[in-house]
This record gives sequence, C-alpha cells and structure tokens, in this order.
Amino acid sequence: MNECRKLRLGVLGSGKGSNFAAIAQACISSKIQAEVAIVISDVPNAGILSLAREFKIPGLYIAPGQFKTKLDEKAEQLYISTLKQHGVELVVLAGFMRILKKNFLDAFPMRVINIHPSLLPSFPGLNAWEQALNYGVKVTGCTVHFVDHGVDTGPIIAQETVRVLDDDTPESLHVRIQTKEHEIYPRVIDMIAKGLIRVEGRRVFGAT
Ligand code: GRF
Repeated sequence: MNECRKLRLGVLGSGKGSNFAAIAQACISSKIQAEVAIVISDVPNAGILSLAREFKIPGLYIAPGQFKTKLDEKAEQLYISTLKQHGVELVVLAGFMRILKKNFLDAFPMRVINIHPSLLPSFPGLNAWEQALNYGVKVTGCTVHFVDHGVDTGPIIAQETVRVLDDDTPESLHVRIQTKEHEIYPRVIDMIAKGLIRVEGRRVFGAT
C-alpha cells in the first residue's frame, strides 16, 4: 500500500460509540492511515450515529430484522451491500451487539475485527469487565481480534492489560479498560492499513 493510500473502514456499532470516536479522531488527525467511509448501526438512536453526524461521516441505521442476536438474511445482505458500495476494506466492530454469520464473514474474509473488554480467552460474552471483577482476577484488559464464526474466539491481534484495583466497581474498571481500548484499536487499524499484520492459523504476527 503506498504512503498516502488510506484504508477504508466501515464501523458497526450499537452503543455510545466511544471507540468509533477515537478511531475517527485518529483518522482525521492523520495519526493512522485510514478513513471511516461509513458507520452503520442496528439501533436507530444509538450514540454512535449522533457522533457520526458530528464527525460529518455518513451514518446509517439499518434494521436488523426479526432476530435478537443476529441479522436476518435480508438485513445481512443490506449490511454487506452498503459496506461494499462505500468501498469498505476493513469492517471494524465497535460495540456491535449482534453475531455476524457465515455470509457476512465470507464477504469480508479476515477483514472483520472486533474489540473485546477482557483478555480473551477469559471472559468472552457480555459485561466482560464485570465478569473479571466478580471472578477476582488482578489483571484484565482488552483484546483486538479477527472475527470468526464463534463468539469472541477469533485470532488475537493485540492485547492491553489493566490492573484491577481493590476499590474498583464495574463502572470504574470499565472506564479504565475503555481508555486502553481507545489507544489500542486505532493502533491496530493503522498496522493493518500498513500491511504489517500477518496471520498464520491462530497466530497473528506484527502487532506491537
Ligand atoms: C467496548 O467496551 C467494546 O470493548 C465492546 O463494546 C464496547 C463499545 O463501547 N465490544 P463504545 O460504544 O465504543 O463506547
């Protein structure tokens, strides 16, 4: 990839969009070699869509269809075609609360990444920071990984650690994990944009 070529990102999110904001900010200030082409949400009034408007980045609500935890077939096709129409080269999940299935992943092979608020494989699934606190671990963190057919199971690209403090609440721990997320996610995207990441089976090389 040449120096000025920017990797086109499609960001999917269902929530407040703080990771999207960190990524968009890094793109705008040219800290990373990428640009957000489109933001899509399955929640009509999600904070991530308001943020997209603030950043003047196209943001769309696309109805997910009849299921609670995945996209139905029609919605899945619409998500894929919209991302393709916007020339998306890397799909970035930033708090997207639905599981992406085979058709979607086949449309973007090894081109879908996610951030999870724990050190995977510990504490996959919902409210991972609370799971970590309740379990009693002393160190947790966040993980950026490629998305595969499982839930939070794909090859790990990079991780950051966060200490669990004696007086932590789920909220205080989540805040510190999110601060790390906002650093690691743009950094990983930049490394992918620059072609520095190599995958061999489950092992991913090149991330710092
Ligand atoms: C993050 O904590 C991320 O780890 C998880 O969903 C949350 C999204 O937060 N996958 P935000 O919408 O980016 O603020």
